[in-house]
Amino acid sequence: MVGDTFPVGCAWSDRIVFHEFFADNPDSRVPQYQTRAGVYEEGCGLDKVHLSWGHDEYLYHVVKHHLPEESLYMIRYHSYPAHREGEYTHLMNDRDRDMFRWVRAFNPYDLYTKSHERPNVNQLRPFYEDLIAEYFPGQLRW
Ligand SMILES: [Fe+2]
Repeated sequence: MVGDTFPVGCAWSDRIVFHEFFADNPDSRVPQYQTRAGVYEEGCGLDKVHLSWGHDEYLYHVVKHHLPEESLYMIRYHSYPAHREGEYTHLMNDRDRDMFRWVRAFNPYDLYTKSHERPNVNQLRPFYEDLIAEYFPGQLRW
């Protein structure tokens, strides 16, 4: 799954890419899920919020025992509409608001970095292997 990550159990933002397809989602027929806070309390913190499944959430679960919190925020929320559109900020707590500066700092290295030129994998490999060796053991715990 790619595209915007979004909380489940509360109203969908109409700024989510292709939000019109939510009409086919069975949650659209559950009134409790269609309120601003839904099943959550305002300001509860994103850690208490269930997010849609996507590549952000998947990678977060793979690396969560191995990386510093700042990078976990960058990974888990880089498609969360808050950093771009200011959506769902009512579910955040102070910790989230503070940590989201890292998500915004990561943004230029994610969006608009795709190129038509194929990267030279052999040239890049040593750099990334060094980086992986620095942060990850031979076997990941997840
Ligand atoms: Fe991504």
